[in-house]
Amino acid sequence: MTRKDIINDPTIGNKAEAYEAFDDIPTNPHLENTIGDIIHRRFGRREFLKGSLGVSAAAALFGPAAFTTSSPVAAATDIAAGKLAGSTADRYKFTELASGNDQTHHIAEGYDANILLRWGDPITEDAPDFDVYNQSAAAQLKQFGYNNDYVGYTELEPGRGLLCVNHEYTNEEVMFPKLGRQDRMEFAGMTPELVDIEMAAHGGTVVEIALDANGKWALVKDSAYNRRITADDTTMMIDGPAAGHARMKTSEHPDGMTVVGTFNNCAGGMTPWGTYLMAEENFHGYFWTDNKDAEGNRALSEDHPAFDSHKRYGVPGAWYAWGKYHDRFNLDKEPNESNRHGWIVEVDPRDPDAMPVKHTAMGRFRHEGAESTVSPDGHVVVYSGDDNRFDYLYKFVSAGQVSEDLEANKKLLSEGILYVAKFNDDSTIEWLPLVHGEGPLTTENGFDTQADVVIDARIAGDLLGATPMDRPEDVQPRDDGTTYVMLTNNSRRGADQLNAANPRPESSFGHIIEIKEAGGDPIATNGTWDILVKCGDPTVADVGAQWNPETSEHGWFGSPDNCAVDAEGRLWVSTDQGSNWPKTGKSDGLYSMETEGDLRGHAKLFFRCPVGGEMCGPYFTEDSETLFLAVQHPGTDGTSGYAGFERDSTFEDPATRWPDFDEKMPPRPSVVVVTRTGGGKIAT
Ligand code: FEO
Ligand code: CA
Ligand code: CA
Repeated sequence: MTRKDIINDPTIGNKAEAYEAFDDIPTNPHLENTIGDIIHRRFGRREFLKGSLGVSAAAALFGPAAFTTSSPVAAATDIAAGKLAGSTADRYKFTELASGNDQTHHIAEGYDANILLRWGDPITEDAPDFDVYNQSAAAQLKQFGYNNDYVGYTELEPGRGLLCVNHEYTNEEVMFPKLGRQDRMEFAGMTPELVDIEMAAHGGTVVEIALDANGKWALVKDSAYNRRITADDTTMMIDGPAAGHARMKTSEHPDGMTVVGTFNNCAGGMTPWGTYLMAEENFHGYFWTDNKDAEGNRALSEDHPAFDSHKRYGVPGAWYAWGKYHDRFNLDKEPNESNRHGWIVEVDPRDPDAMPVKHTAMGRFRHEGAESTVSPDGHVVVYSGDDNRFDYLYKFVSAGQVSEDLEANKKLLSEGILYVAKFNDDSTIEWLPLVHGEGPLTTENGFDTQADVVIDARIAGDLLGATPMDRPEDVQPRDDGTTYVMLTNNSRRGADQLNAANPRPESSFGHIIEIKEAGGDPIATNGTWDILVKCGDPTVADVGAQWNPETSEHGWFGSPDNCAVDAEGRLWVSTDQGSNWPKTGKSDGLYSMETEGDLRGHAKLFFRCPVGGEMCGPYFTEDSETLFLAVQHPGTDGTSGYAGFERDSTFEDPATRWPDFDEKMPPRPSVVVVTRTGGGKIAT
């Protein structure tokens, strides 16, 4: 299937499906807490049960008094033996939700799910009210963005903190009145004004939220912390090995040290020092060329100076019309702009004036997320998947160590070693360093400096023999050297391309891998891996699913995407089946999953999305009493397979008008806040 076939394929009825198909082309106003407080809340809650910081780093941070009760080393051994607090059955109490798919969301009995923020909500005091029929870029810049994906939270004081939310992409067909879904070649209906609204709806949001007098979470609209970070309105610094390199220079930024904007921010992470990491995922989709190949597809000329590099990254994807009106997105006019995207962006939510930083040391690829842990000797380790069929899993190990100096911590992601994963069939894993001059990463092979290595991290991974994976999505380290990798699906893997870590051909439902780093230390360069579950319907033999046999008909799922680990060490997995959801008959949702003991691999359905929506987040507050979820693109994915509707959604005719259910309002991506009815911890 050529790109033109995909673009013109009437069965590909929405952008999310087009995304998936394109993936087939392989290719502080003031500091209210000390940093010690922040780090201690994050790691202290786990009581070092899981050996999170180990002796030296924790002692350096909090002093030896932190270890008066038990040895963290012994505790790490306990977890490895499956001896978490209480029996697994005791820890697994909520009544499972019934699976299905309808126009609204559902939460397990005994919990409340309230809408906290919706696309268009004014987030600053001077923001205009949302008027979907008269939207403007100026208004959108002060309103909550579209397609909320990652959600993070950092506490200012009990009951009050900063919510950090990514806005991954936009769905024009349900955002704009009378527009409809655009043709993917010319975008005939997209005007400069609509493009500018799209750009303002991308990026991220930082807002202060607080518990109100009724104990409900609400936006603090007049907070000085509140701000938007967008694709075309936020200037960022570039640091690390590629900063200032010739390949990072453009006519607008000839020193290659700054860049405007971030977009397609999928998942992310909160660092141990309380900053917010935004992962730039499908950046390629925003770049454009006027050139067309013999078949009439938009394709870069082979004479383009960066043809090979851009080809490996799928640049230009031409998913949006931005390049029609903004020259920097047109590679014919600005050949290097795409090198300035595909990075991890660090934002200090406590300092609204601080410029976000793109950390090139962490490599350039389609970063799904950026979740971190701290090694026993204090190095921060950030895991990140490259979400493309047959692409790789990476981790970054900081050169420096975490301390109580915020400004020093904010430089930890500027220098370190980036590794790519090789999964061996004997269940061992090797982490291969992407270091210029080592192995094949030499001038002879096209890598003149470390800047070339990080800009072309994918090509470096190719040369090192990394293992091509089934679309690595979110990667979540626990604090005991155990890490979970969501592999969402890979319908293009052939029977002759199987390996032990990607064992199913034409995998529609994906799987989850558990990595145990050697010695329980996340900086280890080797370890072991195991498959936790193979997703899909366990009653259909051909699917080859593998779940704990106690898993019910409601508990199994397909296409794991985002995830979180709760205070008990249990995994929570959200799904993104895209247009494939009719294959399971289930909406996307959030599932809890046991990882230890007799119920290892047992999943239970906790929350269901409305039809066409994707489940994002999840994020637990430190006290475990609040869970933030994000419902992305409600009413869009696979609605042609939604019984009784059976057509593609438009603004005027959507499959659901969640969450407002107002005839004048389209569906709106929204952040949902989950609490236990009457209060208490979410997961017990
Ligand atoms: Fe944006 Fe890989 O999900
Ligand atoms: Ca995702
Ligand atoms: Ca996704």
